[in-house]
Amino acid sequence: MYHLARNSPIDGAKSIVKDLKGELGFAYIARARALREKGHRVISFGVGQPDIPTFDHIVESAKKALDKRITGYTETQGIPRLRRAFADYLNERYGADVKEDEVIVTTGAKTAIFLAMASYISPGDEVIIPEPSYPAYGEVARFLGGVPKYVPLRFKGSSGGFELDANSIASMVTEKTKMIVINNPHNPTGYVFPPKTLEEIYRIAQENGLLILADEIYDNFVYGETPFRSMTSMPGWKDYVLYVNGVSKTFSMTGWRIGFLVVRGDIARKLAKLAVNIYSCAPSFAQEAAVDAFKGDWEPVRRMVEIFRRRRDIIYEELSRIKEFEVWKPHGAFYIFPRVSTVLAKGGLSDIEFVDLLLDKYYVVTIPGSGFPDTAGRDYIRLSYSVSEEDIREGVRRIADAVKEIMSS
Ligand SMILES: Cc1ncc(COP(=O)(O)O)c(C=O)c1O
Repeated sequence: MYHLARNSPIDGAKSIVKDLKGELGFAYIARARALREKGHRVISFGVGQPDIPTFDHIVESAKKALDKRITGYTETQGIPRLRRAFADYLNERYGADVKEDEVIVTTGAKTAIFLAMASYISPGDEVIIPEPSYPAYGEVARFLGGVPKYVPLRFKGSSGGFELDANSIASMVTEKTKMIVINNPHNPTGYVFPPKTLEEIYRIAQENGLLILADEIYDNFVYGETPFRSMTSMPGWKDYVLYVNGVSKTFSMTGWRIGFLVVRGDIARKLAKLAVNIYSCAPSFAQEAAVDAFKGDWEPVRRMVEIFRRRRDIIYEELSRIKEFEVWKPHGAFYIFPRVSTVLAKGGLSDIEFVDLLLDKYYVVTIPGSGFPDTAGRDYIRLSYSVSEEDIREGVRRIADAVKEIMSS
């Protein structure tokens, strides 16, 4: 006799899956769309992607690939031309000495993060992550049974900005520590790690036999105040570094889903076996176009970065006029992360409630700092200045109105 089970087996997803946190940025995109559909003019400082469309020569390259029906599978590690193009990029820029067989093309940088962590993190392993942090590192570590250990960046006010003390990382190292995550330039703060700090962190990894997951997806968004040093320029880096980058931000190609994981050649061949079991390969025509992104004209990238530098200056100036905010001018990426604790305290609001008010009443999307684990971000909001100068001014004007309302209540 068969009987119907009270619970469907479909309900039985592992508890860690049910427990995972999503990425708030994506949730707010959906809410902003719903408000726009109701006719509101929403200004979004929420999205983590350039608003400038993918450059024409890259689109043309993809069209040509499609015309040639380059629409099938490729090698799991990616087409050799793209692996060579990305290796050339790292070698010319950072003196990285990467060979094409050390590059794995992934479906976006996020898959590179997953592949790297899944290949090394076992239950109980500790992963040191500077916080606030891009959410995927901690969540993927937890999914794998690892334990995220967050190290707060210190905020030294509007002029001092953010700082990570390498000693605070050293003090977190235990015999269970497996990996240190360094996202440079940093999402959500716009911090660029000073070369000396990076060298100290690298030394900590060497002395303790730890991996460094180096996510340098914003390496082209650097505005000059702090020089950018790639982890691939450290001596002997291939014995310690799992290197992540991609085309999403540099060439405004977030939807094309092309990322890179770079690891020592013998390891790359092993990791490719996991890769083939997850995603087979990255999209073939997008890989073709990515070759032309690296090998084609870089002038559009330079122009885009200049636009972002100007916007950064404007949003910094505009936000600085809100005297209840503590605003530091970021040195990289395209985010600004003001401290808003005075407003939260006065209004009796959490960062999430403040962000909800900005969205529901003033039609401005920002992301609450607590969306960037662990807890260090909860006095902050993140704004992506991936909107026109006009919208920056209008959006910040609305935020100023909201602050006025809260402060006078
Ligand atoms: C720090 C960081 N790493 C990785 C990613 C993911 O990049 P991709 O879209 O290529 O998966 C993002 C996207 O916002 C990011 O901010």
